[in-house]
Amino acid sequence: MNIPQHVAIILDGNGRWAKKKGMPRNYGHIQGAKNLEVIIEESHNLGIKYLTVYAFSTENWNRPKEEVDGLMKLLRNYMKTCLKTATKNRMSVRVIGDKSRLDEDIQKRIVELENLTRDYEGIHLQIAINYGGRDEIRRCIRTLADKVNTGELLSEEITEDVISNHLDTSGIPDPDLLIRTCNELRISNFLLWQLAYSELYFTEVAWPDFDKSELMKAIESFNGRSRKYGGVEEQ
Ligand code: FPP
Repeated sequence: MNIPQHVAIILDGNGRWAKKKGMPRNYGHIQGAKNLEVIIEESHNLGIKYLTVYAFSTENWNRPKEEVDGLMKLLRNYMKTCLKTATKNRMSVRVIGDKSRLDEDIQKRIVELENLTRDYEGIHLQIAINYGGRDEIRRCIRTLADKVNTGELLSEEITEDVISNHLDTSGIPDPDLLIRTCNELRISNFLLWQLAYSELYFTEVAWPDFDKSELMKAIESFNGRSRKYGGVEEQ
């Protein structure tokens, strides 16, 4: 079995999953966070090296205040409990997105978690929080423009690699496989630059029900494909 090196996941359907059970949306998010723990462990066991998950988008601030508060509470707690999972799986954690809009205590916990897990090589988890692909590219362009203005960089030196190295995912290989759960067939502003050649996998299963067997189905589907880059098949 060919295991993708980098899997990215849009964790969708927590709300619908909870509604079906007659429960509030935030209950779905709590179960979604629990399921992330399961999938991290399974990914690590399978030998996936990079896992990137979409936890909170730049657009998610527009949700009802109660739901946003619930998600922030969940993320705040997760930054604490995640250290246990990180130690167990020798997992490094990086948060991608614009962290400056998050509450200061959450920012502080993110820095702590990133620093404490920096050297772990078992699996690399990227959590996208207040993340939008367009916003990431906008921030990258501003950084590059500043460097050109100060003379640190010449505009003709801006290559695709230079851009990749100024994104939040700098140093991380592009995803081989993108999974989106709960029957939505969109990219929704996730990793717009990085997904250029990724294989896409969509499933009807809602995120809280996406278990090991569903992950295996996604990897089997990935295995059945011949990857092409600009019409050229992978050797
Ligand atoms: C999409 O479901 C999910 C989100 C907006 C949040 C994802 C968050 C988690 C899984 C939990 C927190 C994550 C971490 C890292 C602790 P939805 O609410 O859009 O569901 P719906 O489409 O059915 O309404």
